[in-house]
Amino acid sequence: MATATQSPPRESLRTGGEYRFPPGFQRNLIWFAWRRFRPANPISLFRHLAEKYGDIAHYKIGWNHIIFLNHPDHIREILVVQNDNFVKERTVRRSKMLLGEGMITSEGAQHRTQRQVAQPAFHRQRIPEYAATMVREAARTRETWRDGETRDISIEMMHLTLNIVAETLFATDLRNQVQELADAINRIMGLYNFLVMLPAAEWLVHARPPGLAAFMRARKRIDAVVYRMIEAHREKKSDCRSLLDLMLAASPDRGAESEKSLRDQVITIFLAGYETVANAVAWTWYLLSENPECEGRFHEEIDRELQGRLPGYEDLPRLRYVEMVFAEAMRLYPPAWAMGRYAQRDFRLGEFFLPAKTTVLMSQFVLQRDPRFFPDPLRFDPERFTTEAKARRAKFAYFPFGSGARQCIGESFAWMEGVLLLATLGQKWKLALVPGHPVEPQPLITLRPKYGMKMVVGSRRVAK
Ligand code: HEM
Repeated sequence: MATATQSPPRESLRTGGEYRFPPGFQRNLIWFAWRRFRPANPISLFRHLAEKYGDIAHYKIGWNHIIFLNHPDHIREILVVQNDNFVKERTVRRSKMLLGEGMITSEGAQHRTQRQVAQPAFHRQRIPEYAATMVREAARTRETWRDGETRDISIEMMHLTLNIVAETLFATDLRNQVQELADAINRIMGLYNFLVMLPAAEWLVHARPPGLAAFMRARKRIDAVVYRMIEAHREKKSDCRSLLDLMLAASPDRGAESEKSLRDQVITIFLAGYETVANAVAWTWYLLSENPECEGRFHEEIDRELQGRLPGYEDLPRLRYVEMVFAEAMRLYPPAWAMGRYAQRDFRLGEFFLPAKTTVLMSQFVLQRDPRFFPDPLRFDPERFTTEAKARRAKFAYFPFGSGARQCIGESFAWMEGVLLLATLGQKWKLALVPGHPVEPQPLITLRPKYGMKMVVGSRRVAK
């Protein structure tokens, strides 16, 4: 295994007082690289930093120190070993404009309480209950497809996963509102790059300049669906132990504060729970269509293990190749493509000593394509995820779900959903990218296909 770089070139080490900074941009990014790399494509900046400066690179934007990490040891150090010193704060400021103070963006006691409230809905014992809904919804979707037609698979997967989150975690049938909700979220994602580039967008949003007025309108539409869902659930006085029931029980008071907090928690799980899985599955279809040999093995396993019946929770251990395909797709196109932390106190990392308030960035997209850990990195090869291959690799070279105290609460849910959707849809259909359709990853809150994913649906055989 490659170990973290211990000795960067001497001349590139800079000290500021007692601090010892890693090598990196000498000029302030505001004046130099900002124009060259444009914040619209942070991945090219991260790649450049990793290629030029190695495992830890340093730069500044204004007064702010930023380091970019590109080694599993360093990532483990920040997310797990020194986790107590790091918060998400600042790095999720823009996401708060949509998510408010839900589990992804909150900190400290508020985060702990929210995670505790939600935990039972993600407990190992609850996950199997969701399998039937996932398969039923996927089976419904596959019946709406026709042989030879073209579909935007990215949109199809979004609608499917949105329905699944609504039903499994919020015990709500959203089918009539899925289009409205997905459109509003798409509108927001379309504005995301603009928002990221706009200084102080989180305050300006209240003054409603033209682009931001559209953001506010879309957010209002999402909020309306969420509040309707909460209200309907309250009236039903259900005790069905859904995540929404758990959230309602934990927030009995109906003051404005508490309603807003409930909204933030619901919208967070909604967005985290559908958009990520939808993108992961859409990228998987694309990669399968580009790699016929793997696609053949994928279909062969589904046919062999399921013998024409729909999959269920108990089939998961046998759908090993489907899972490896899904894992490899998330290596190349990780839905959460980068993460950030913010240091509360001075800290050491390797031979460097860095000040409090340093922002630490790491990118799944960049590290998971590093040839030191994934030889021939651009090749789609599910064999990288056999038990033996995984055991040979540094654990933190692959971290699509993060790690440590803030690790994705929906990880088991997502693995199961990905495998079941792929197996159910792949049992009946084979998807082929429309010739000439441009495919480019767009790093928004999640990694989306920039031009959608237009694919031709081809019948395999009629599943029983
Ligand atoms: C392929 C699918 C998914 C991927 C790649 C993914 C990725 C991630 C990552 C990387 C984080 C950690 C972010 C950080 O530490 O800064 C995270 C957190 C989170 N995810 Fe997921 N996620 C997925 C699916 C889901 C699902 C299905 C749900 C819920 C139904 C969910 C809910 C959450 C929540 C609530 C958090 C915040 C956890 C905390 O801070 O305590 N995610 N996810």
